Amino acid sequence: MPVARLVGTGSYVPSRVLTNAELEKMVETSDEWIRTRTGIQERYIAAEQEATSDLAMRAARQALEMAQLDPAELDMIVVATITPDMIFPSAACFVQEGLGAKRAGALDIAAACSGFVYGLAVADGLLRTGTIRTLLLLGAETLSRIVNWQDRNTCVLFGDGAGALVLRASEGERGILATSLRSDGSKGPILMLPGGGSRHPNSQAVLDAKMNTIQMAGGNEVFKLAVRAMEEASLTVLKQAGVDIKDVGLVITHQANLRIIGALGQRLGLPEEKIYHNIQRVGNTSAASIPLALDEAVRAGRVKEGDLLLFAAFGGGLTWGAALVRF
Ligand SMILES: CC(C)(COP(=O)(O)OP(=O)(O)OC[C@H]1O[C@@H](n2cnc3c(N)ncnc32)[C@H](O)[C@@H]1OP(=O)(O)O)[C@@H](O)C(=O)NCCC(=O)NCCS
Repeated sequence: MPVARLVGTGSYVPSRVLTNAELEKMVETSDEWIRTRTGIQERYIAAEQEATSDLAMRAARQALEMAQLDPAELDMIVVATITPDMIFPSAACFVQEGLGAKRAGALDIAAACSGFVYGLAVADGLLRTGTIRTLLLLGAETLSRIVNWQDRNTCVLFGDGAGALVLRASEGERGILATSLRSDGSKGPILMLPGGGSRHPNSQAVLDAKMNTIQMAGGNEVFKLAVRAMEEASLTVLKQAGVDIKDVGLVITHQANLRIIGALGQRLGLPEEKIYHNIQRVGNTSAASIPLALDEAVRAGRVKEGDLLLFAAFGGGLTWGAALVRF
């Protein structure tokens, strides 16, 4: 059976930086509070004319260049996002058109902040069947469009960006080794965007109640669940692949909170240098956060051919999961 090998990475962040100092002028918060509670110092915000697929395409072109792959050779495009350009067509279809990926299928995955790990599992399954040979996986978000900029509980957390990964069906040992996906819909209400769907279609009442923005009930509960869930998923994929945590070269988790990342590292007994984070500069970019960090790590020389990488994510749904990869 072929293995889904990672052959190219890319990323893109918008040019506009929003600092904690600017947020101090928008809501009752402080740079000190945001830094100590989350680790975040600044985040990027998409320009008015930039939609999610625009960010995704920028990241995709970099990844295709690294993979030395022409878009016309792509068999499938998967975009993990909760902020697609519109309800339909999917963001993946806009990317397909923009890149000129004439032969590619296209689909979006909505698993919130776990979207990229879910995408890796989908990519792994599709590439292993042998029916497709090349797949472009993107995590891309414009969360600034769904944030309530008057709600200090959430508006300080999120940012915009995109990360891309090209995968190719290959022989050998390098590629996706194990994945684990989980969910718990009973805890959906703690993190949701309730408006604009079939339950609460767009209306003036929906807009007045700010139901078109992210609602988070109990950041503290999200925090605890995140640590436990990512630990469980990480241990599951390590066990599946028969790999000891000590042999993992780099761990890249969803970037939701520096303290969540630190707590997970402690529970897994990881030394600090094995945990990659960039949340300080980008904030929580949901499905984009792992591929954005991965591309940075690759380009900074933190990841070498043959290294074992562990990805773990957690997000609305609730959804969570992990993936173990040999780069
Ligand atoms: C949200 C989060 C940063 C809060 O940190 P915390 O240490 O749990 O915060 P605490 O519960 O101790 O404190 C909350 C207090 O800070 C206040 N607060 C919330 N946001 C604030 C802000 N931006 N600035 C200042 N004060 C703020 C709250 O109103 C609350 O005040 P109260 O105690 O008077 O009611 C943290 O819980 C977290 O990151 N949770 C995960 C959230 C997340 O990642 N969601 C997305 C998942 S993918």
